[in-house]
Amino acid sequence: MHTYLVTGGCGFIGVNFVRRVMETRPDWRLINLDALTYAGNFGSISDLDGGRHRFVHGDITDGDLLKRIFDENEISGVIHFAAESHVDRSILGPAAFVDTNVTGTFKMLQAGLEAWKAGRVAPGFRFLHVSTDEVYGSLGAEGSFTETTRYDPSSPYSASKAAADHFVRAYHRTFGLPTMITNCSNNYGPYQFPEKLIPLIIFNILNEKPLPVYGDGSNVRDWLYVVDHCDALLTVLEKGSPGETYNIGGGEEKKNIEIVHILCDLVDQRLNRPSGTGRKLITFVADRPGHDLRYAIDASKIERELSWRPGVDFEEGIARTIDWYLNNMDWVESITSGEYHGWVNENYGSR
Ligand code: NAD
Ligand code: DAU
Repeated sequence: MHTYLVTGGCGFIGVNFVRRVMETRPDWRLINLDALTYAGNFGSISDLDGGRHRFVHGDITDGDLLKRIFDENEISGVIHFAAESHVDRSILGPAAFVDTNVTGTFKMLQAGLEAWKAGRVAPGFRFLHVSTDEVYGSLGAEGSFTETTRYDPSSPYSASKAAADHFVRAYHRTFGLPTMITNCSNNYGPYQFPEKLIPLIIFNILNEKPLPVYGDGSNVRDWLYVVDHCDALLTVLEKGSPGETYNIGGGEEKKNIEIVHILCDLVDQRLNRPSGTGRKLITFVADRPGHDLRYAIDASKIERELSWRPGVDFEEGIARTIDWYLNNMDWVESITSGEYHGWVNENYGSR
């Protein structure tokens, strides 16, 4: 058995990753370290707990806890997801982004380095830092981000992820720690917290609430189905080279307003509502400060060197996503009601 340490495995991508590993890697066990912030939901993985998945309720800024985890387990690799991830929240309150994304990543690196130097990790140990395309800033109408695009972050969120990326790279160059970085475009799919565009719009259409579109809706994002991202991360973990960076993207550029239109029309169809019902809810609102115009990923390196490419196109991925939300409205209610947080504090102790 190989033991991997996943951080943030109760968040959107982390939950999908944990589930993917359980399905596809029978010889892996996972330690899932998550602080269960508002974005983390133990209920999303509670059916897996015990056996090959072990949940640890804790904070990545807690160096003593990290040391204990590395001391007590021979870790084959770290998949570091834990972060504050929402751009709008970073504008309202940047401090938590510095604490978790910068200090937390530094603590993870330091704990990993100490265990690695002392020979307490498994042979072939890797530290995979999961980052974002937002570190590159905004594109104009043309071009795409490559691994050598200059860092130019616009929001406190992307600045904190950029700082973390620099630390990860520095720990490789200075100490030789076998780190790798992935910079991925916008993910969508099951278990995404309904503050992000796609689940928020689905949730509001269902509840006949206004659909807030920032600015004129012409900003472009490059969308990737979350399970494809998880497979890309597994590919990098198993085949990538230490010190390298890999861009990951779906090659599915869409304007925000196009996404909102697609969601309105598909949800109307699913609910047998008259066509146009959803679109009537569209409300243009003030733009996000520092709003990046366009992201697009050049994923040719990971395709060429590691043979990864997305398996699910937007049409199929968005249909699966809508169906998942329609069938799991109790999940949305539970994570927004905070019931799970009370339950976890009773069972695992509060932070
Ligand atoms: P998320 O906000 O849904 O989940 C974050 C998880 O981290 C939650 O479970 C939360 O409880 C946990 N967490 C937060 N602070 C913590 C701390 N101090 N200690 C331990 N756990 C903590 O985020 P996500 O969308 O799943 O993103 C995961 C990672 O992927 C992030 O690093 C993000 O920057 C990156 N990323 C996300 C996307 C995207 O589209 N969602 C795209 C590219 C990269
Ligand atoms: O590109 C990768 C990034 O994608 C990740 O690093 C982030 O963690 C993730 O949150 C996401 O960031 P975005 O800011 O692109 O995602 P969000 O869903 O917040 O917004 C997508 C686009 O939709 C963006 O242009 C802002 C716009 N938007 C968003 C919301 C929440 C709206 O127009 N209305 C909204 O209500």
